[in-house]
Amino acid sequence: MSRGIERTISICGLFSSLLVLPVASILPGVGADLRMTNSAMGDHRTGGYNDIKSYFAIDLEDGALRTPELIAKYGYPVESHEATSADGYIISVTRIPPRKQLHPWPILLVHGLLASSADFLIIGPNNSLAYLLADRGYDVWLADMRGNRYSQKHTRLSSDSPEYWDFTWHEMGYYDLPSVIDLILRRTGAQQLNYIGHSQGTTAFYVMASSRPEYNERIAHMYALSPAVFISHLRSPLTRWLLRIVDALKDLFDTLGIHQFLPHSAGQLQISKMLCPLNDPGNLCIQIVSMTVGPNPKMMDMVAMQVLVGHDPSGASVKQMLHFAQLVRSGKFRQFDYGRRNNTERYSHWKPPAYNLSAITTPMTIFYARNDWLIDPRNALRLARLLPKEPTMHLVEDDNFNHLDFTMAKNARAMVYERIFSDLVDREKADRNR
Ligand SMILES: *[C@@H]1O[C@H](CO)[C@@H](O)[C@H](O)[C@H]1NC(C)=O
Ligand SMILES: *[C@@H]1O[C@H](CO)[C@@H](O)[C@H](O)[C@H]1NC(C)=O
Ligand SMILES: *[C@@H]1O[C@H](CO)[C@@H](O)[C@H](O)[C@H]1NC(C)=O
Repeated sequence: MSRGIERTISICGLFSSLLVLPVASILPGVGADLRMTNSAMGDHRTGGYNDIKSYFAIDLEDGALRTPELIAKYGYPVESHEATSADGYIISVTRIPPRKQLHPWPILLVHGLLASSADFLIIGPNNSLAYLLADRGYDVWLADMRGNRYSQKHTRLSSDSPEYWDFTWHEMGYYDLPSVIDLILRRTGAQQLNYIGHSQGTTAFYVMASSRPEYNERIAHMYALSPAVFISHLRSPLTRWLLRIVDALKDLFDTLGIHQFLPHSAGQLQISKMLCPLNDPGNLCIQIVSMTVGPNPKMMDMVAMQVLVGHDPSGASVKQMLHFAQLVRSGKFRQFDYGRRNNTERYSHWKPPAYNLSAITTPMTIFYARNDWLIDPRNALRLARLLPKEPTMHLVEDDNFNHLDFTMAKNARAMVYERIFSDLVDREKADRNR
């Protein structure tokens, strides 16, 4: 498939999302939320582009930089690594090495759906999780899962071939994460690492920990930020609408021979600058994002949002999107559903097998949020009940905290990261006294 078509699709994706806006704002509830978004932000419409200051120490240009460039720009050391998965995918891994070896465990950060390693850097020094960990002397590793803009290489397959795109987050958990974890442990000589995942970054973890249980021992502790395992009670109207048309979309994509969903393009930052003016807190980008993750205008930074649109969407496979849609429909955490006949061939059963959560032994802390429109709190609680080792549950103490706030909010540090830091310190102490 040509790059041109991909670009067209990515723009189509954006515009098809736009289509839903006028419809959705007529619905009761949603319209009210959006109006609230506008008024709660105050009216900045009179301010010019350059009057908009960020709460964070960042600037708009950050949206055009790649992960290693971003890290170097803010004065941190950076290394680029590659891990090769057992099925040949080459996974890009970026490291912020510590200046001195202070801590026993390296930390692996894994991003969410349609996102990338940059998500842990967007709100800049003193706020983004990756920098804060580096400031505290941790050895920070950022993975980019297969198919996103940073990880499109394969030992045999070209990313232009349909075979390349025949994967979901199942393969990310089964193949990519083990190869990344092996690389980090080999490079650092550590026995174990700490894992922090956001959204799909947790999905892949739960796949790994249940289907390759030997990897549980290699994780000292797992921090799950909004775990995407059970996805019921979806509140996002945009996502609910996409789910309704998912079969039609799949047929359309099949017909057009499209296997990649919302690939990254250099133009998306330009488009967002055009369509989503910084001085309009009710702009299209903000509305689309708020309708997907849940609105939290007070904790949202306009400059950071524009930087975000420069980075995300960052690409995914169509199959990966379908697999998530299947989780929503079935309410179960299980492997890809190929339909009765093909399931029987593949899995020797007409139903896809469920992931065996009972096999997960990694100690865990789960963060979840009330205003998360994608992962309702009930899902996090259900997951906790099914894990054999009781996780520490932490409901974020801000009722408006949403799905994206885990990486983007002005209070992400105060609400979530500080907790992780003190927990890391406590566990290190406990480990030394053992
Ligand atoms: C970093 O953030 C903390 C807590 O929000 C604040 O007290 C401190 O002044 C900030 N430091 C810098 C250099 O911005
Ligand atoms: C099921 O298998 C058939 C034959 O191999 C194939 O043509 C079809 O696309 C498969 N269906 C799905 C949903 O994968
Ligand atoms: C799930 O994992 C548990 C713990 O390892 C094991 O005892 C059980 O047999 C597994 N169940 C299945 C269906 O594989």
